[in-house]
Amino acid sequence: MFRLFPDLSEDLLLNLFHKGIHAQWSSRDLDWESPLVFTEAQCRSLGRILTPVYLGEQSAMLGAAAILPQMAEAGESTAQVYLCSFMMDEGRHFEALTRLYHHMKQEPIPIRQMPSMLRYHHRLRQGDRVDWVWGILISDLFAKNFYQMFAKSQPQALFGDMSRRVLQDESRHQAFADHYLKAAIRQLPEERLIALRIMRDDLLRIMETMHVQLREDADCIDLDGASFLEHLVTDISQHAVRIGLDQPPDGPGRRPRPAPLAKTVDLSSARPHHRPKSSGRRPQMAAPTEPAEDCDTCYLAAICHSRLARAVAR
Ligand SMILES: [Fe+2]
Ligand SMILES: [Fe+2]
Repeated sequence: MFRLFPDLSEDLLLNLFHKGIHAQWSSRDLDWESPLVFTEAQCRSLGRILTPVYLGEQSAMLGAAAILPQMAEAGESTAQVYLCSFMMDEGRHFEALTRLYHHMKQEPIPIRQMPSMLRYHHRLRQGDRVDWVWGILISDLFAKNFYQMFAKSQPQALFGDMSRRVLQDESRHQAFADHYLKAAIRQLPEERLIALRIMRDDLLRIMETMHVQLREDADCIDLDGASFLEHLVTDISQHAVRIGLDQPPDGPGRRPRPAPLAKTVDLSSARPHHRPKSSGRRPQMAAPTEPAEDCDTCYLAAICHSRLARAVAR
């Protein structure tokens, strides 16, 4: 698995890595004195509507850490190097949004109030590195469409400026995902392609659920959730064609894909709910007695399955 002297060829992924290095920024580069242009009620709604995006930043960062060894094992050296810059980007977005929450004196929606977020991130964890890159592309497109609205509508305001900077990072992420998936999809059998399409439909279905729950908040900040989702679906479809997952709508070959039947997302492999023991000993993970979404720590464990999450659980 470990190669001391791998071949780091000058490919697009290495190029994206170098671009990322030269485009570094942090929340300290933002002007925190610039106006928010939101009323107090709108700040509350923005804090709520931002929650899936905020969790997406964390999920991307943690997911990349879990995928890195798979890329090493496959000898994908330039993808490994690129992914390190991706983690830095997502870490930066996570930190900047955390600071924004504090600045607005708001908090994200707790997971227990919106368990669809847990389902979304659990769905992203299923499969191998190709599934993950596809899921991350979908999440990045969601984030891109979201940030784009603010970057365009309020370029002088604090969140508009932050959004503009995040978008520059996201464009590299999309270029990576397109390139990586284009090469990977050529090698995949039809059943894997079907699985990727089902994953897209699962993620979109969960996004719709979130949209319904956040409709009032969207109205409060003049965000048209329905057209947002419509635009997102078009964007994802275009990328699916670009990477070779789908045929162009009027192209030869496959027929238009029928929508799969509603599919329940299986939470059975999510880390079980835990409770601290009063014995003074380090608490052990208990057998699952409640759905994982009842506990924010379980959510974290479910999205990363890492020692970090188990440490948080203690
Ligand atoms: Fe991000
Ligand atoms: Fe991203």
